[in-house]
Amino acid sequence: MKRIFLLAAMIAASILPSCKAQETATPSALDVIMTRTSIRSFTGEAVSKDQIETILKAGMAAPTAMNGQPWRFVVVTGKDRIAEIFGAGPRSGMFTTAGAVIVVCGQTTMMRKPFGQPDAAEVEMPNIFWYEDCSAAAENILLATHALGLGAVWTAGYPAEERIAPIASALGLPANVVPLCIIPIGVPAENPQPKDKWKPENIHWEQW
Ligand SMILES: Cc1cc2nc3c(=O)[nH]c(=O)nc-3n(C[C@H](O)[C@H](O)[C@H](O)COP(=O)(O)O)c2cc1C
Repeated sequence: MKRIFLLAAMIAASILPSCKAQETATPSALDVIMTRTSIRSFTGEAVSKDQIETILKAGMAAPTAMNGQPWRFVVVTGKDRIAEIFGAGPRSGMFTTAGAVIVVCGQTTMMRKPFGQPDAAEVEMPNIFWYEDCSAAAENILLATHALGLGAVWTAGYPAEERIAPIASALGLPANVVPLCIIPIGVPAENPQPKDKWKPENIHWEQW
């Protein structure tokens, strides 16, 4: 009898962890990267604050030049506020059906000591890397959103002045903070296939 119990316990111990692994199976980072695609239609359902913070944590995990972290995020979740700021224009449906809109902004200046003057006081200087840094954050945001089972699309801000000006004004951005992109996020109402972009001819091995 004791042996039967022992055998049953051993079988359960070997099966249960794999069941649990299946229940909580998360896609690999490569799966997430390869299956992400732009989503431009949402159900209108809300996105929770927890989900938004997880997405923003992923954004802030991106690399930045000199670890400058020039990103600033404006999150808009109120339906009326989303419609008021982003609801005009021919493709406004991707905003008005979203659960949240994240405006990825970059601070274009940073406080630094002048180059080669370690004893000097910090002064405000242009941060020429702000849009690369914020682009890395924006891509992380798109990937984290997809990993959570939500959808998103990068829509252009910088450098299109006609897109930057109304958003900067509506959000009250300081003069040295520029909206790089506007990302509506929500529960997908469409299921487009990821595009196959693999083109070996775009790779030059060892030399052009
Ligand atoms: C810099 C940039 C600007 C973009 N601007 C827009 C935009 O204004 N509106 C839009 O619907 N999609 C925009 N997109 C999304 C692209 O159209 C989309 O990423 C591209 O067609 C590839 O499709 P995929 O994201 O599904 O792989 C933009 C993407 C980038 C990187």
